[in-house]
Parts: sequence; structure tokens; C-alpha cells
Amino acid sequence: MMTEVRVGIIGFGTVGAGVVDCLLRNGDLIGERTGLRPVLARVADLDITSDRGVAVPSGVLTQDAVGLIEDPSVDVVVELIGGTGVAKDFILRALAAGKPVVTANKALLAMHGEEIFSAAERSSADVYYEASVGGGIPCIKAMREGLVGNRIREIVGILNGTCNYILTRMEREGADFEAVLAAAQAAGYAEADPGLDVDGIDTAHKATILASLAYGEWFGMEPLHIEGIRRVSLQDIHYASELGYRIKLLAVIKERDGGVQMRVQPTLIPMSSLLGHVGGVFNAVWVRGDTAGGTMYYGRGAGRDATASAVVADIVDVSLNLKFGSHRRVAAFRPHQGYDRVVPMSDVRTRYYIRLQALDQPGVMALVSGILGRHGISIASVTQKEVNQPSVPMVILTHQAREAAIQSALQEMGRIDEIVEPPAMFRIEDLD
Ligand code: HSE
Repeated sequence: MMTEVRVGIIGFGTVGAGVVDCLLRNGDLIGERTGLRPVLARVADLDITSDRGVAVPSGVLTQDAVGLIEDPSVDVVVELIGGTGVAKDFILRALAAGKPVVTANKALLAMHGEEIFSAAERSSADVYYEASVGGGIPCIKAMREGLVGNRIREIVGILNGTCNYILTRMEREGADFEAVLAAAQAAGYAEADPGLDVDGIDTAHKATILASLAYGEWFGMEPLHIEGIRRVSLQDIHYASELGYRIKLLAVIKERDGGVQMRVQPTLIPMSSLLGHVGGVFNAVWVRGDTAGGTMYYGRGAGRDATASAVVADIVDVSLNLKFGSHRRVAAFRPHQGYDRVVPMSDVRTRYYIRLQALDQPGVMALVSGILGRHGISIASVTQKEVNQPSVPMVILTHQAREAAIQSALQEMGRIDEIVEPPAMFRIEDLD
């Protein structure tokens, strides 16, 4: 027998409008598939007059978010206002009222996930957050349910559509960073503060959510090592490409040395790898489990409809949980046996790309290789460009080395007169 679930949405911005559109368009289809038809009960926003391009049924729009939460006819609360202020109050209020919550709010979960999931546990209400990571890609559900039988060995993700769009256009067109960022903003991919995208913060929010899901501990933001893409130059994109690599902003989460590595960095990855083919606004998450081996999830990481698709999937999941009881399902987050130790960045071992601008004179290569050798860093390849200038670019790829050793070697190189610019350095993930 078909029953209805009444949905209240707080936040009628880009994603909110996408969710309204999807529910109005596909509500009946969802009802046929699941036996539960989602009905738009209330949509709350301070601005209820601007045209969002969707025809909200009359009487549904309201400015009263608290009234929406407390309305006994609203079964499910969807938080789409973002940020870590009132959004948190609304979610806690809905949970206190025993109502399941669906949110796309990655910043809030990254910073206050522990508090929110404790509140959910207390009131036995669900908090689902598929749209917080990877836009329309159902990667949270895949990890939570599809890989429930796995110990997660590593997660490597391209998680920010704006950065991937910028790096892709820089590589393909030699485009200017600022101009491409403006295009990403115009297309609605970027955060209200695009610094959150290009400085790696948005990726870090998503990375800590994935790490928490995989390793049973809300890590928060503090243990993450975060670098953004502002320092990626066309020159490095070009040299990386000559060597068969692409530069991508990666979230790297790995079980290593009895702990978890958690880092967000512009990174060289092989062009021939699956992740190397992920271009434009697309995101992808590669997850290796001890039982399944490698799996990859790919799709649109940002944008109105992609994100709405994930929100609607969560609405359906929490509605089914309401109807049948969440004991039937794998909880959205539950602490479990995993790792709580985060490996300090200085102890991470990986391969490195180093670019130096060095004087073109005898003995300079020996100086550089001497510094690397003294720090126990083994060179995998060296390329020096022949240009008719007093100083020349020198590109070095290393074998596996410890981050602390690389940092000391770079500092030493930065002090010698023959190296005329601060060295550029990127990590390499060979993804094997
Ligand atoms: N600003 C984000 C991005 C939106 O570019 O990926 C999706 O979280």
C-alpha cells in the first residue's frame, strides 16, 4: 500500500531548488519504486519571493524554519542552508524532536560531526549526508553499505569540482587561474567563498567525513594536512604532463604505520590512471577495501541537480528507515573498531616531484644530488631543460622518501645561491 512521507526543506537556494524540482518531477516514480511517496510539505527560506525556476505548490513556502521543524505533519527535515551557525541549531532541534535529518552540509559535519551524531544516537533519529561528499555520486552509501564487509585500506578522491575544473582548463587550454575560477563561480560550482575551494578546505571537509566513515572516529579538521591549488603553475602542469602525469587536488586517506594518513594536496597522478581521466567538474573516489580490492565511484561533484539527486536518495533512505525501523540498515555513522591515530605529515612516505630554477653552470647538479643524497632521498629521474638563459628549470622525481627529509632538503636547497627561486614541490601518487 502506498503511503506518503512529508518532507520539510530548510534552505531554498540552488540545491534546495534542485531538490524541490526533483521531488515534484519524480515523487510519483519514487513512490512506485519504494511504496513511500515523498511529498513536499514545507520549504523555509528568508527569501520566499525570488523566482528559483520551480513551481512550489501554494502554502508550502514559509520563512519560519523553526515552525517547519516543529510542524507535526513534517516527517523528515532537510537542511540545505549550509554553514556552521543556524544550520547546526536547526539540525539539533530536529533531532531533539526525534525527526530524521538529511543534510548536504560538509563543513558542519566536518567540524561538529561528533556532536551531531551523538545527538542523533540519543534520539534514535537518522542523520544522512550523501550530498556532503561527491555531489551526485552515491559514494557514502557505497562505502557504508556496499563495503560494510571490508576494512578500508585507502581512499583517494578528487572531491572538489571547482578545483578539478580549474586544473583541467589550465592543462587543456593553458587558461589563467583567475579567469577559470570566475567561470566556475558563474556555473554555480564554487562555494560562496571560493577560497574554500581553491585552498583545499572544501576537499578537507569531505576527506574528514570519508575518513570518519571508514575508520570509526570523528577526526574533525585538526589532523588534516591541507594544501590548495593556488601554487600550481602552468609550468608544473606542463612538466608533469611531459613525464606522463596530471596534477589533481587529491584527498588521500590511507591506513599506514598503525594509523591513518589524512592529507589534501595538489598531487601528480599518472595520466593513464582512472583518476587521471577525471576532468572538469567531475569528482571521483577510489576506495580500496581488504576484501573487495579497488573500487571507484565517479560523477558530477557539484551543481544543482547532481547534489539534489544525493539529497533525494537520502530522503528516501531515512523515510524507509522511519517506516521499517533503522535496525534494518547500516547506520549512517557508528563508532567502530578502526584507527584513531593520525600519522603526522612529517612521517608520511611518498614519491615527490621537485622543480628547481638553477644556474646553468658546472657542479650545480652535483650540489643538488648531494643534498638529496645526504637526506637519504633517492632520485628516480632528472630532467634539465636546455634554454638559453643563465638559469634553467631542473625537474626531479624521487623514489619513496619521508616528508621530513624532503622538507629539510628543500630548505637547504633554498639557501644555496645557485638555486635562484624557491623550489616547487608536489607529491606523487602512483595509484598502484
Ligand atoms: N564547491 C564544491 C565543489 C561544491 O566545487 O565541489 C560541491 O561540494
